[in-house]
Amino acid sequence: MIVGAVRESFPGERRVALTPGVIRLLKRIASEVLVEAGAGVLAGFEDRAYIEQGAELVSREEVFRRADIIVQVRGYGANPGAGREDLKYLRTGQVLIGLLEPIANPEAALELAGTGVTAFGMELLPRISRAQAMDVLSSQATVVGYKAALLAAEALPKLFPMLITAAGTVTPAKVFVIGVGVAGLQAIATARRLGAVVTAYDVRPAAKAEAESVGARFIELGLESAEVEAGGGYARPMGEEFYRRQRELLGRVVAEHDVVITAAQVLGRRAPVLVTAEMVGRMRPGSVLVDLAAERGGNCELTVPGETVEIGGVKVIGPVNLASTVAYDASQRYARNITNFILHVFGRREGPDFSDEITRETLLTYRGEVVNPKVRELLGLPPAVPEGVG
Ligand code: NAI
Repeated sequence: MIVGAVRESFPGERRVALTPGVIRLLKRIASEVLVEAGAGVLAGFEDRAYIEQGAELVSREEVFRRADIIVQVRGYGANPGAGREDLKYLRTGQVLIGLLEPIANPEAALELAGTGVTAFGMELLPRISRAQAMDVLSSQATVVGYKAALLAAEALPKLFPMLITAAGTVTPAKVFVIGVGVAGLQAIATARRLGAVVTAYDVRPAAKAEAESVGARFIELGLESAEVEAGGGYARPMGEEFYRRQRELLGRVVAEHDVVITAAQVLGRRAPVLVTAEMVGRMRPGSVLVDLAAERGGNCELTVPGETVEIGGVKVIGPVNLASTVAYDASQRYARNITNFILHVFGRREGPDFSDEITRETLLTYRGEVVNPKVRELLGLPPAVPEGVG
């Protein structure tokens, strides 16, 4: 079995799907590991480092031609523009593993199926304990949350920590994190390490203990209930009336803080709008809002993806692809997740076991068809699953 990684083609993407540190692990089951020359350079991994670990450096075409398993960070779907170029290389029976955004972009899954490739979309990985070591969404969200706190600290005209100096006492910055998922938790932990006082909020009741465990004070609005939990840690989409009520209750809390970091997401949906222009208007000049949902439409009404807008002295930062700005560590975590996944699915002598929950649920296309039930539903296809799967 030959495993190969190509250079990412998404604009501005610095990460790489395989790092030198996983080559030997992969070689437990792969006869060869191919890497496109220069693929790791932007993440801080030189070609030489891959060669030292036993990988072969080749051209992009050669990776696609020779590899049985292609791994990418952003495959077609998660890279709708430049990623289209890859379709012509993919072939029947070849395996593609990466972020493919099948829920947000199911049409791309259909095109992938058309190439005959067996595609695994890592966003579909089930959220069960034994899949945690393969969970790229979690590993990348950790990096994103960390970076969000740094962006806020950088933009705020105040210090984060409390300081007692000869020139007087500096009170700590007050940070409010909305959405205590993986990214939110890491934003809390990082802001705390920088010395800020952190408050947090989430609709899922389970988030309270998690937020408190990393040092935040959790606020309850009386809207939280187990019904909001959709399983696997995901929140259920709620009606507009629910969000309206939430915004009403959040307004005062938002206005009291120097920094607001929003990280509330609902799988496969536009992110809920939780901070309106009016709420930003009530924040003190100099305050900062970092919207981690910018790529999903934003939790703040004023967010412009990829830009910082300043309204009434409040900076609204809408970062995109933050994980890529910490490409070295994000790539190492990603590569480790993907390697664990490859060993799990292809490490069996008998080949992939499609009755296994991890393998089955992550599988997106097989034998020319989109097989994931949720994606089939989005495409308006009947739920039938081809023979040999499920
Ligand atoms: P996510 O990125 O889907 O959402 C982020 C957060 O936004 C969630 O905590 C969600 O409850 C919250 N949210 C959604 N709508 C909201 C609203 N209207 N107001 C306030 N908050 C709102 O979630 P993420 O970060 O991927 O994971 C969430 C949780 O799932 C984690 O904290 C963890 O406990 C669990 N998890 C479990 C895994 C496993 O067992 N393998 C793997 C990954 C996560």
